[in-house]
Amino acid sequence: MKTFYIETFGCQMNAHDSEKVVGTLLQSGYTQVEEPAEAELVLYNTCSIRDKAEQKVFNRLQQFKREAGKGKTFGVLGCVAQQEGERIFERAPHVSLVAGSASYTKLPELLVQLETGNRRVTGLSLDTTETFDTPFTRRDNPHRAYITIIEGCDKACAYCVVPMTRGPERSRTSDSVLREARGLAELGYTEVQLLGQNVNSYHDPSPPGWDFAQLLAATGRIPGMKRVRFTTSHPRDFVKSIIDAIEEDPALCNHVHLPVQSGSSRILSRMQRLYSKEEYMRRIEWMKRAKRDIAITTDIIVGFPGETEEDFNDTLRLAEEVEYDSMFIFKYSKRPNTPALQYEDHIPEEEKTRRLMVLQERQRAIQIRRNANYVGRTEEVHIEGYNLATGQWIGRTTQNKTLNFVDASLPRPSEGKTLVGQYADVLVTRAGPNSLAGERAAA
Ligand code: SAH
Ligand code: SF4
Ligand code: F3S
Repeated sequence: MKTFYIETFGCQMNAHDSEKVVGTLLQSGYTQVEEPAEAELVLYNTCSIRDKAEQKVFNRLQQFKREAGKGKTFGVLGCVAQQEGERIFERAPHVSLVAGSASYTKLPELLVQLETGNRRVTGLSLDTTETFDTPFTRRDNPHRAYITIIEGCDKACAYCVVPMTRGPERSRTSDSVLREARGLAELGYTEVQLLGQNVNSYHDPSPPGWDFAQLLAATGRIPGMKRVRFTTSHPRDFVKSIIDAIEEDPALCNHVHLPVQSGSSRILSRMQRLYSKEEYMRRIEWMKRAKRDIAITTDIIVGFPGETEEDFNDTLRLAEEVEYDSMFIFKYSKRPNTPALQYEDHIPEEEKTRRLMVLQERQRAIQIRRNANYVGRTEEVHIEGYNLATGQWIGRTTQNKTLNFVDASLPRPSEGKTLVGQYADVLVTRAGPNSLAGERAAA
């Protein structure tokens, strides 16, 4: 029996890709193990979105070599694999397999090539749609599932490697998406998350010719599907019909992750984001005016080349105006082969760090304020786990907020009884900046 170990880094797309890789390998007779030392094949699914992420890859590859011992096969998958290609063999000579996301269905083939004497193999072609229908996906979570609806990205944000590491946009047919979603509902999944680097530019290549809002609405109508999420949305392609669909169907979660990157139109233009602050705010207005209380989250890059104090203040003002429910803040990181690398006015590291901290502090106060509004309300949660240390069940609201709660009828998992996977109405009694706490409301 052949054994493999896999470690994953990066976004949900990568996490889901690894589920496809695991399924494919199990199907070809491999067994998954939990330690590199026990494995014959050690795989690392990588991310190259920021320089730190990429550095980590090479450090970790060295560590694997020490941990796993002699005679092992090492493979690098994902975005660093696609970006660096054969250069990985030079930087980490113990690696013998390098493959990007579009080549995962070919993995068994590539591994056979290694077994039959090839010293090094690569799968780096990007012009394929084959990764969509991976029949052997082995999902990590039995209640919530990822579904890829679109691969790649056709935008050209000046700072970003993704169009190079994941190639051009390819949408999956609506039939194939819905077939997978229905199959998941039949297996007992009640929550799915539709994935793509830019789900809003989804365009059904098959006859119904649906746009994203239509696909989203159809997924929500699948019997048994209680929650449908989606990520990520590009503001330029975010249309009002998405909000209308959410308004109409409670199965569509009222949470939108709409990365803005900066509150300054001048910087947005230098980033090649294709929208101004005003255009972004129009989309925020649609959500604020909706009858459902839609949670809004975002990504921000601080210290993009040329970002002045005034530009940064625009970002602080935007954060206050929108009142985001949560925000991922990143310091701009120079990436290979991106236009922003050529810009001359890079910001010193200390200044980026300062801006990051100032924004984090502001956002924390906003979240404390926003979350306090939930105290006294009853929210439905999908129960995801149990925290032994605090004695609380871990739930998630439709708005994607963590709501930890105590349950008098089942204070802890016992004798095979668990609440995980179920839904419950929980009374919110306390709120912090990053989560809510409560008690299960009496039935
Ligand atoms: N497709 C998604 C984002 C993918 S990357 C979108 O367009 O929203 C996730 C986040 O990483 C981005 O939103 C951005 O905030 C951040 N990011 C991307 N490249 C970066 C870089 N070079 N430096 C710092 N942050 C970066
Ligand atoms: Fe990168 Fe921009 Fe594409 Fe998002 S939309 S993946 S930030 S290029
Ligand atoms: Fe990273 Fe690739 Fe995702 S660069 S963020 S793993 S698309």
